[in-house]
Amino acid sequence: GLPARVRIHEVGARDGLQNEQTVVPVEVKAEFVRRLAEAGLRTIEATSFVHPKWVPQLADAEQLFPLVSDLGGVRLPVLVPNERGLDRALALGAREVAVFASATESFARANLNRTVDEALAMFEPVVARAREEGLRVRGYLSMCFGDPWEGAVPVGQVVRVCRSLTDMGCDELSLGDTIGVATPGHVLALLTQLNQAGVTTDRLAVHFHDTYGQALSNTLAALRHGVGVVDASAGGLGGCPYAKSATGNLATEDLVWMLHGLGIETGVDLGRLVATSAWMADRLGRPSPSRTVRALAGT
Ligand code: HMG
Ligand code: MG
Repeated sequence: GLPARVRIHEVGARDGLQNEQTVVPVEVKAEFVRRLAEAGLRTIEATSFVHPKWVPQLADAEQLFPLVSDLGGVRLPVLVPNERGLDRALALGAREVAVFASATESFARANLNRTVDEALAMFEPVVARAREEGLRVRGYLSMCFGDPWEGAVPVGQVVRVCRSLTDMGCDELSLGDTIGVATPGHVLALLTQLNQAGVTTDRLAVHFHDTYGQALSNTLAALRHGVGVVDASAGGLGGCPYAKSATGNLATEDLVWMLHGLGIETGVDLGRLVATSAWMADRLGRPSPSRTVRALAGT
């Protein structure tokens, strides 16, 4: 069966904007986050506390976070790669953080300047200290299906890193198809092997990219398997600056259209969300790639 309700983990302000050529002014980012909250999204990933030279688009994290942290009832997770990032997030009162691992050596090197295991060792004290402080911790895992340098990624390799992330104390794992090559059978195979390795479905979220038009099919396969948390990006913004062939994330509007059609609750007002993405597309100077935004906003 399908879940009655899905929690959407909105990543447009972080995963979306980190990949834009244009550096969006902090006031525009804050308004984007506020509009997403007004559209009913309740988990909005706000920004990253990473090295500003690595992701200049998010170098304004210190300015942005206080502008949005008063949104009642909205969870505002932020990315932190290391203890320096966690310190910065804690100083601003963040209550939820995410570390981001890679299933492949090539992407670990490109994204974190580390081997897979060195990156996991870097996250361990971050997760431990965040939990001591009472924060919720998400663990992202990138390149769960394919990698631009290494090709298809063996499921066993993904399961091993997932186990490390749950063992170190991550509350939730987000399985990333960073370059969008997954198909539904591959998704089911990974979920099944994770369950067999002791990682239960209630801790899993899925993070699909739409490069080959498979993001919704993959999402539906995951929902049928019992996954109840889905990552998506308003207007389909974003890719990943360190993975050349990664195109946009699954668009939140396309996801909401499918979920509401299936009678699954999301709490999202689709009209307000579409208006927000159309507004953001104007700020970025290019149309949204989301089919649903194009159909409903008439742009
Ligand atoms: P490094 O160069 O190895 O850093 O980078 P280091 O540990 O050697 O430190 C070098 C300097 O950076 C030091 O300064 C540190 O203080 C400073 P110095 O002493 O030389 O003056 N530094 C920092 N400054 C501010 N904030 C920090 C920080 N850390 C160190 N947090 C590092 C290692 C992890 C820092 C770097 O590789 C980095 O920032 N990477 C982040 C890349 C990133 O954000 N990528 C995108 C997110 S992942 C993604 O998009 C995939 C996902 O969306 C899922 C999917 O789509 O599949 C999650
Ligand atoms: Mg992504």
